[in-house]
Amino acid sequence: MTQRAIRFWHRGSIVEVSDASPQRTVLQWLREDLHATGTKEACGEGDCGACTVVLGSRDESAPGGLRLEAANSCIQFLPTLDGKALFSVEDLASEGTLHPVQEAMVECHGSQCGFCTPGFIMSLWAHYENNRADRAAPTRDEITDTLSGNLCRCTGYRPIIEAAQTAWQKPCATMSRAPVRAVLDALAELPALEYANGTQTFFAPRSVDELATLYSAKPQAQLLAGSTDVGLWVTKQLRHLGDIIYLGKVKELAQISHNDKWIEIGAGVSLTDAFATLIADEAQWTELAQRFASVPIRNAGTLGGNVANGSPIGDSMPGLMALGTMVVLQQGAGIRELPLEELYLGYQKNALEPGEFVRALRIPRQSAQPKLFRTWKISKRRDQDIAAVCAAFALSLSNDNVVTSARIAFGGMAATPRRASAAEAALTGQALSEASIRAAMQALRSDYQPLDDMRASADYRMQVAQNLLWRLFLEHTTDTPLRVGEVMA
Ligand SMILES: Cc1cc2nc3c(=O)[nH]c(=O)nc-3n(C[C@H](O)[C@H](O)[C@H](O)COP(=O)(O)OP(=O)(O)OC[C@H]3O[C@@H](n4cnc5c(N)ncnc54)[C@H](O)[C@@H]3O)c2cc1C
Ligand code: FES
Ligand code: FES
Repeated sequence: MTQRAIRFWHRGSIVEVSDASPQRTVLQWLREDLHATGTKEACGEGDCGACTVVLGSRDESAPGGLRLEAANSCIQFLPTLDGKALFSVEDLASEGTLHPVQEAMVECHGSQCGFCTPGFIMSLWAHYENNRADRAAPTRDEITDTLSGNLCRCTGYRPIIEAAQTAWQKPCATMSRAPVRAVLDALAELPALEYANGTQTFFAPRSVDELATLYSAKPQAQLLAGSTDVGLWVTKQLRHLGDIIYLGKVKELAQISHNDKWIEIGAGVSLTDAFATLIADEAQWTELAQRFASVPIRNAGTLGGNVANGSPIGDSMPGLMALGTMVVLQQGAGIRELPLEELYLGYQKNALEPGEFVRALRIPRQSAQPKLFRTWKISKRRDQDIAAVCAAFALSLSNDNVVTSARIAFGGMAATPRRASAAEAALTGQALSEASIRAAMQALRSDYQPLDDMRASADYRMQVAQNLLWRLFLEHTTDTPLRVGEVMA
């Protein structure tokens, strides 16, 4: 790899940066270096959307070969822009003419103090650009999902949602993607990025072999994928990350492949694409996917990052464990596979060796061996919230309703996401009945000593976990009406 400057497209030309820290955020660069202060900062942790920008990247499957996605600039590091296009709110209006989403926001009174407005506009702009040319007007649900990462404290959401609908009624004004794509093609000809500043170097290998060699030589370096966990270590904990190895350019990690038995999702695939793949095989992932963070976080964050970070309240792991997912690990040229549940050894401790990384996740196809599968997240807010409990169940049933295998996993119930072996044993070999479910609910008490914190008490978590098993039973048992408000005695 050769040392060079960071290069990306912004406001009609290629920008070159050679004097910024590798952990300078895109937001800091925009506001403090460029004085482009339209993009705002509030939470600095990906939660509020005030800092939303749109990133363009090369993608053959996207219109015009250019993928446009909303992102939180407060937690993205500047070198991750290399080879991409950056759009901020200053890009939208041309020669005094507002873009349709801006016009609609004015007409519908979608802004009061205005602090959140640029972020809302950028989320709506990405949605408009991606859909306006060939799609019917968005539904209210689609709009609220698009805006799941944007908070407004004073206007209220009704006029903003109305603005999103009104923009559609204006003449189509989508941008031409070809010139941007041509610039990104030229940037892709540059050698892989190695960017040094001070004592810190940012490496962006492009192949898994390059990554494996580099990480074996520098096992102390910080791996960085979507930055939706790591970004906060810098903005909230003021950590110095040392050398950084960025996974976002490694082509093998971005791949998704299928065979009759497995879906293999590369560790660098975004949560947006990973969930779309999981949903195509098993529609029961839909609600969890929508309730995982927000659109910009799902665009940046990766499934591999969720699994590798191993938070006790990570939302993808219970479902992945219940389906029997294997995690594919690589260290140098050596590749090994582990059942996902064996990756976690304890709170923030995993089985990765120095220099070893997650290469992919291998998920058994539901269509190959259908199961009664459910995964549910319980949190205080619907969108953009951390789970108190996240549950997943995958039961195989014989024709006479006997549970031939049970895989049950929970987040929020222990120091790591973990399977419920006692509850699984209570169900396996039994008819799926009220009696066996109640036995499994009781068994959960020996499986877990739940976390007890300000998000939820241990008692609450246990009761919720037990009631989710009961819900599974009620949903499966069509002749038993769901008794609203019923809880475990
Ligand atoms: C506002 C907000 C909302 C969120 N909401 C949710 C939520 O609803 N549910 C939830 O589960 N999480 C949530 N998260 C957490 C986060 O988005 C996820 O954990 C995400 O999947 C992390 O992926 P990433 O690519 O951003 O990882 P990064 O932040 O880049 O990395 C996370 C960790 O994983 C390591 N890592 C990444 N990739 C690999 C790899 N291939 N091999 C080895 N190690 C690797 C990194 O070194 C680092 O230690 C939220 C975060 C934010 C900021
Ligand atoms: S400042 Fe709140 S999401 Fe970035
Ligand atoms: S207009 Fe004030 S926060 Fe939204």
